[in-house]
This record gives sequence, C-alpha cells and structure tokens, in this order.
Amino acid sequence: MQQSGKNPANLQYYHGRIPREEAERRLRNKNLVEGMYLLRANMTVNGNYVLSIVHSGRIHHYSLECQANGSIMIQDGRPFPGPYELIEHHKHALDGLLTHPREPCNRDPGTSPMAWPYVTMRDFEVALNYEANRTYRKSLDKLWGKQRDDLVYSVSKKLHEHQRWFHKNIDREEAELRMKKNGHKNGKFLVRSKTHNGGGFALSLSCSGHTKHYRIDEREDGNYGIEEGPGFSFLMDLIGHYFNRMDGLLCKLTVPCVPPDFRAPSYNNGTSANPLYNPYAQRSVSSPWDEPESPDFPVQGQSNLPAEDHQKIYDFGFTENLLRISRNDLELTEELGKGYFGSVMRGRLSFNNSLIPVAVKTLIQNDVPNSQSEIMNEAILMARLKHKNVIRMIGICRTDTFMLVLELAPLGQLNKYVRRRQQRMPQQNLVEILRQVAVGMAYLGQQNFVHRDLAARNVLLVTETFAKISDFGMSKALGIGENYYKTERAGKWPLKWYAPECIWYFKFDTKSDVWSYGVTMWETFENGDKPYKGMRGQEILEFIDAGHRLKQPNRCPEKLYELMLRCWSHEAEDRPSFQEIVRFYKDYQRNSNP
Ligand code: ADE
Repeated sequence: MQQSGKNPANLQYYHGRIPREEAERRLRNKNLVEGMYLLRANMTVNGNYVLSIVHSGRIHHYSLECQANGSIMIQDGRPFPGPYELIEHHKHALDGLLTHPREPCNRDPGTSPMAWPYVTMRDFEVALNYEANRTYRKSLDKLWGKQRDDLVYSVSKKLHEHQRWFHKNIDREEAELRMKKNGHKNGKFLVRSKTHNGGGFALSLSCSGHTKHYRIDEREDGNYGIEEGPGFSFLMDLIGHYFNRMDGLLCKLTVPCVPPDFRAPSYNNGTSANPLYNPYAQRSVSSPWDEPESPDFPVQGQSNLPAEDHQKIYDFGFTENLLRISRNDLELTEELGKGYFGSVMRGRLSFNNSLIPVAVKTLIQNDVPNSQSEIMNEAILMARLKHKNVIRMIGICRTDTFMLVLELAPLGQLNKYVRRRQQRMPQQNLVEILRQVAVGMAYLGQQNFVHRDLAARNVLLVTETFAKISDFGMSKALGIGENYYKTERAGKWPLKWYAPECIWYFKFDTKSDVWSYGVTMWETFENGDKPYKGMRGQEILEFIDAGHRLKQPNRCPEKLYELMLRCWSHEAEDRPSFQEIVRFYKDYQRNSNP
C-alpha cells in the first residue's frame, strides 16, 4: 500500500536501511544530545520504519508500522500519513514517546540513504535509470505505475549478481577454499549460485575458524529464506537482514569474501558502460553502511575530476588481497625521495593489460637493524586498510631486496608541496586537505590503529585538494580491548610531533596521534616549515611542560589555531577526537563557503 505522506527519501534525517548498531553509532558520533533522532527503514519488512531517538543518554528505537491502508503508526498509537507527519506530531505531543524528537541527526551532506549493504539509494537509482533506458528507451522519471514497479522488481531481483559477496557457480569445496584464503573471521560470508543439487543459492559463513553452509530456499511464494527464518523477495534483502540479525545463523554477517575476479568494467566516459554490472565497485568500502563523502562546497585549484579518476584506478584494479608482484611486471622510472632505510621510486605496474602508476618503496641497505621487519610490518598493516584518504598498499615484490608497491600520490609530500607553492596555495585548499587528513585518521582510529608518525611529510597529495595518509612503518594495530600501545624503550622517534605521554611514558593512542595532527596543521599553515626550529629535544620538553606552544602561523585563521591548541592539551582526554575534528571542519567550511 502506497503511503501518502511526505517522501522520507527527501528528509536529511532519513538514513535508509541501516541496522540498529549503525544507527546508534551515528547518534553517538553526535554526542547523544537529548531528543536527537533519526529515521531508518526496517531491514526486514518493506514499508516499515524505525525512529531511533536519544533520551537520558540512551538510544530508544520505536517501530513505525505500515498499516493496510498505507498509514504509519507506533504500536497502539495514532495513524499518520507517513513517518514525517508522525515525527512532526511528536515534536509537540509525547503521546507515549519518552521524549520529544528535538534535533535531527542528519546524514552527512552529499550522501544518500542506504538501500542495502554497500548500495546507496543513489546507486540503485543509477541502476534503475540504466535499465529504464535499456528496456523502455525512457528515463526513470518518465515511467509510471506497473512499468515502473516491474522495473524496480526486476532490477532488485538481479542486483545480487553484481555484489562483492556474490560468487557465481561455485561448489562448496571452492567456497571453502575462498573463505579460508585470507583467513577466517567471524561473520565473513559469501553467497554462491550452486552447481549441484538442483542449483539455487547457498550462504557460506565463517564462524570460529570454520565455514558453515546454509541452503537458501526458494519457497513456494517465490521468497528466499534460510531454514525457518523469514522470507524475502530479493537476495539483497535477505543479506541485509542477516547483517542486522543472527536469526538462527551462527553469527551475523560482517565482511564479504570477495570473488578473485571481482572487478568493474572501465567506464566509457562514465556513460555507456552498464552501471548494473557493477555500480558499486568504484567505492572504496570501509563499512557496508558508509558512502564516501564528497566535498559539498567549491574548492579552488585543480578540478576534482582527476581525483575521481585516480580513485577509480586503484579501486577498480585491485581486490582486498595483497598481490605478490613479479619484478618483471614492475618498471621503476625516477626517484621520488629517500627515507631512513630506503628510497621511494615512481613506477608502473603491468596489471591485466594496463599500466598502473605506482610508488615503490625499496629497501636499500639490508643491514639497517629492524628495517626488514619494519617494512614488513608496514605491508601487513597497510594491506588491511582501504580508505580514500589512506594510501593503498597494492602488493609486495621480493627480489634480492624487498619492495612495497603502493598507490601513487603524484603531487608528493604535503610539507614539500606547500613549501614550493607558498602563498599561492589558497587557504580553503589547506583547510580541505587538513579535513581529509582528519577523516583518514578517524578511519584509522576506527580500525584500532595508532599511526605514531603523523606529520606533513607523511601526508601525500593526489591533487591540491585530495590528500592521503601514508607511511605506516611505525604504526601499531591495537588488540581487542586495548586502547593504547606501550613500548619498552624509546626509539628513533619524531619527538617534535610527539605528545608528552609518548615521551615520558612511551604510551601511544589515538589521542597522541591527535597531538601530532596539531603539529601537522601547524606545518601546513607555516608553508612546510620545521616546527620548534633550532630547539633540541630537551629544550622542547621543557618548553611544552612550561605550558608554551608553537605560535599561530600568519596564515592560520583564529578558529583553526584554537583547534591546534586543543590538540596540544597536556591531558590526552582534553584533546578532541578525530571525529570531533572532522565535524569541526564541516561547520567551519559551511560557514566560510556560503
Ligand atoms: N613518497 C612516498 N610514498 C609515496 C607515494 N605513495 N606516492 C608519491 N610519493 C611518495
């Protein structure tokens, strides 16, 4: 039954089909303000919604059910034409709610509500439009009634074929091999079309180091279901449901096992390739519920197009697996820079009949203590990271020495770039770069990483407004339940970037990375100058302990200097989190780019 109220898809606080945990994460990110609310779609029953709302620091979830006549109501409540009207009513009347919906928790600007894991409503619309053109030679908005319903149905019915978790025609043995390949992880899964026993589909799910297989039945009513579990019209819905609930499985779904040949076609000018084939593979996925942010304000300097093209090269070309690269496939061209134990070269990797620009980190002196293990540490840690503001690790190449093959950031290190460009670099580009560094660092924090060497030299530029964090040689992955890393002794450390607790107590966590982030901000606004120039280690410690801080750079706006000072709070807990820093920039950019 059609609802008659305002279309929820047009509401900024409508987040689409996200599970309860994701709703709670989004509300928590905004500090659980009393009365803050968001609306999401029920993951199991089409047409039902959930209102998630904060009261007294806790999050409550109200199910909004669609009635036979198309109205919406909270259990035992009053009917409304749609969720928007229901929420508007409760702004003034509690009528059974614990608190009034006061402040909307909006989606990030420029993002679209989720339709399924890894698929936004915008993605789905691209696919629908493509099919509308192909089948009816019409754009989607010219289709009505049955034609439109049929189209939505047929696209939804086939969409699983293009997902990163779908493996076509493989048997149980092959599924087990693929699941095992990069190690088991609770909730890792794939869906396969079967080659035996009458075809159909099966879900292979990893739990406690084993793969369990579930048959997906196609029931008499045409729905898909597992054992006694609920039925769904589309495999997409079934998978969305089990991301949200165990419902008889050994565990919930968490990460896809990606087919080895999962790859999107290259788009012919971005227009004529079949977007249904894989509209989603362009995305670097950190979470099934996240859409990459796009700047929603103008930035000066180079256009964003090269940045998008750049991202496609690395997202199209590679799976999540670390490649073992043969030296014959790698051509090194020029030296980009030298590090403590090696050099970085620009190069080209031949891969699937194309040449991919890469940066290659090479170990030159095998006798530098720990160099091999540090570079290996970097390779292993980086392989797990996939975010557009973090340099991608592509693979390793072993000859007589050891090479890390990395995504190339053509404009190189931020400190050198701003030194070259000096005042010619527009201030809003500096701010955008620093925002992206904070976004990348927030991602690392979510992945339980401490970077331990964040500095402008380790921020690389793809364009003047597209930055990536690099150099994970000193990074550490924290174990479950650990929130800091403690070393036994001091090492060859970048002291000028380190918080007091790192130096005094050898203790590192995401808040010590925040301190380094403040120094990175300072370097950026100071055109790549060195911090604490002319001062030595002991002097710097005394300077900081006496409460002094680096001076406000000439080009640095007051508000951003205030942020820097907060990053340099003596007590780690007084420093902002990277999430807060990201939000700070959003507000800052909105206010300074009308
Ligand atoms: N210098 C160090 N790593 C680099 C990379 N990935 N791209 C460009 N320059 C670099």
